[in-house]
This record gives sequence, C-alpha cells and structure tokens, in this order.
Amino acid sequence: MRIPLMKHAFLEEKETKKKLAEFIVSSDMFSMGKYCKMFEEQFAQYQQSKYAVLFNSGGSANLALLQALKSMGKLKEGDKVGFSALTWSTNVMPIIQMGLIPVPIDVSTETINVMADNLKERLQETDLQAFFTTNVLGFAGDLEQIAALCKERGILLLEDNCESLGVKLAGKKTGNFGLAATFSFYVAHHMSTIEGGMICTDDEELYNLLKITRANGWDRNVDPDKQAQIRKPYQIDEFYAKYSFFELGFNLRPTEITGFLGIEQLQYLEQNIAVRNHNYAVFESVIQENNELLPVQHAHISRISPFGLVIMCQSPELRKKYLERFIQADIEIRPVIAGNMQNQPFYKKYVKQLYALPNTDFVNQCGFYCGNYPELIDEDVETICGCLRG
Ligand SMILES: Cc1ncc(COP(=O)(O)O)c(C=O)c1O
Repeated sequence: MRIPLMKHAFLEEKETKKKLAEFIVSSDMFSMGKYCKMFEEQFAQYQQSKYAVLFNSGGSANLALLQALKSMGKLKEGDKVGFSALTWSTNVMPIIQMGLIPVPIDVSTETINVMADNLKERLQETDLQAFFTTNVLGFAGDLEQIAALCKERGILLLEDNCESLGVKLAGKKTGNFGLAATFSFYVAHHMSTIEGGMICTDDEELYNLLKITRANGWDRNVDPDKQAQIRKPYQIDEFYAKYSFFELGFNLRPTEITGFLGIEQLQYLEQNIAVRNHNYAVFESVIQENNELLPVQHAHISRISPFGLVIMCQSPELRKKYLERFIQADIEIRPVIAGNMQNQPFYKKYVKQLYALPNTDFVNQCGFYCGNYPELIDEDVETICGCLRG
C-alpha cells in the first residue's frame, strides 16, 4: 500500500519503541498501577478536566460510562438515549447492552456532525433522557448550542470524543461540554497506547463509580474515606473488603504498558495535531477549488484536529469516480465510519423503531476518508492532492 491509513503505531516511533523496551526490561509490575495513575493525571490536565479514568479501550470507556450512570441513578432501563447516527459501533452498542433505547440523531451534511438544529428536530418527535453525541473525525457540531439545548430540556449530555482529541471550540476543548467524555488511544488515533481509552469528568461521584465499574465492582481504587463510606452500610471490614463487590462492573482495566505509552505519546500530541492541520490546509485548498467536492464546514470550530482526510463528493456517482482514483493511486480508504447506523446488521436485530436520516445517508453514500498523519511525506501529500483535483 503506497499510502496506508496509518504508517506507524506510535508518534516518534523509534524513540517510543526503544523506551518501551527499556520499560519492559526494567519493570516488575505490569498490572494497573502508578503509570496508569500518572497518565490519568497528565491527561486530565491536558483536557482541563478534574478527573480522568483510564480504560483498556475507547469502546470499554463507553460501556463503563453508561453502566456507571445507571449505578448512579442518572439513567435507568428503558430511558431513551440519543446518539449521532454517524458514529462507531461501540458508541451505540453499550446503549443497547445497558437496556436503554437508542434514538439516532441525523447529522448535518455540511459539518458531518450533529448540530443543535438536528437535535431540535428529533426532539419534536420524541423526548430523550440523554444525548451521547459523537465528535466525528476531527470535527464537532455546535456543542455550545447543543449543551444549551440539553440544559433547557433536562437532557444529560455526554461526548464520545474518540475521534476528535484536541478539537477546540467556544473557548474549550471538546470533551468539556457535557457531564463526561470518552477517548480512544487505539492505533491510528491522534495518539496511541496500542489499545486504550479514557473518560474525563468533573463529577466526583461519577469518577468514583467509574473506578468501581472498571475493576470488578470493587472499591480498591477509590480513596480511603470514600471506601469507608461505601463499606459502612454493609459493615464490611478490611479483610472482606478485598473481595466485596459493590456495583455492577466489568474488568476493563488497562495495563502499565498503556499508562507508560500514554505518558510518552502525550508529549507529542500537540505537535501531531499541528502537522495534521498543516496537511489538512493543503488538501482543503485543493478541495475548495473543485466543484465536484464539498468541503467539510468548520467555521464554528476554532481548531479542528483532523483524524483523517474526509472527502465529500456532490453525488454517489462522483464518489465512485474519486474512489477509483484513490484505489488506482494505491491510497487506503474507508467509508465515513459506520454510515447510517440503522443499516448495520446488529442494529436491525435489536432495534425496531427506525427514523429518517437523510443527511447521514448522504454522507454515507457520497463520502469516504483516507489517512492524514505526520509521516506523510511531500510526495504522499502531492499524490493525494492529485486525486482531489477536478
Ligand atoms: C466514535 C468512536 N467511539 C468509540 C470508538 C472505540 O474505540 P476503541 O477502538 O478504542 O475501542 C471508536 C473507535 O475508533 C470511535 O471512532
């Protein structure tokens, strides 16, 4: 493959692999410990959020978040949870797995993200207890307006920021507009810990429940005063506390390798986003000159954080033409994530109520994406630009 979706597993690959090898040789402990905690603290600081909880994947983070919100009493079985119709499978699957009812919200064809107007339209047909929005492929919707609408209607707002780490709008980073946000550090994301995920929140109760949910439902990872409070009603002493399970949980723990890699990769994150933005500006200027393509609109975003390069064509026929060009040039391509989620086989099996999603259908039929990352050399950038010209 001449231009794969991603060339390396890590930012500063050589240096990171060397440090990882040294870490493995010199460490005695690999299960969740001090490196995970250090990464959580550094990531919370980067995100400007109070708390961060590390997981073994972004999908695990989504699952744990909904479980913890149920344990907290903020969501209950049968509640309707809105989600961006254009998202990843493991954003929606936990909604179904938790006994909640998924309600897809159409995206805007211009921003490829859910905007407040899209949410408002759906709210004319149905109420929602929560909205788990996805910030899609390095962009986001008008989150400030979405947050205001959710507040007005008493809807709990959550962000899946797995694809948009580093996006800034309305004076803050995405991931800070709702009660909590999830992140993924899978290879080919903005930074990678091989597998890994995070949840950020400012809510202390949710923070504690997330740590309990992540590790078997026990309280070992919460502070001693909180432990005392949790154990008191059951009169559980120190001996039995080791194997006492307080809330429904899973084992979604990361390893110290995840923590170590997170700390290492975080150093290069801003530099990575800057190069992706630099490449994106070059591609965007070519897209803007070609009237067969539709540039993704992002005037409401102060800094995008390109995940890949999204190419939107005016029609499905034109998409066919551009797909062929990319295939001919040996550039790896993908659909715009899961397309209209309602058309995915698992969804049809579990969800009977379907909604019209014309804009998401359009994005699915007219769009695709290729890689955009720091290792693209000038020749790669020119090859992609060549495919984008009219
Ligand atoms: C929007 C979104 N949510 C969740 C996930 C799941 O993340 P992970 O692959 O780390 O489980 C992804 C994966 O890319 C994603 O794009």
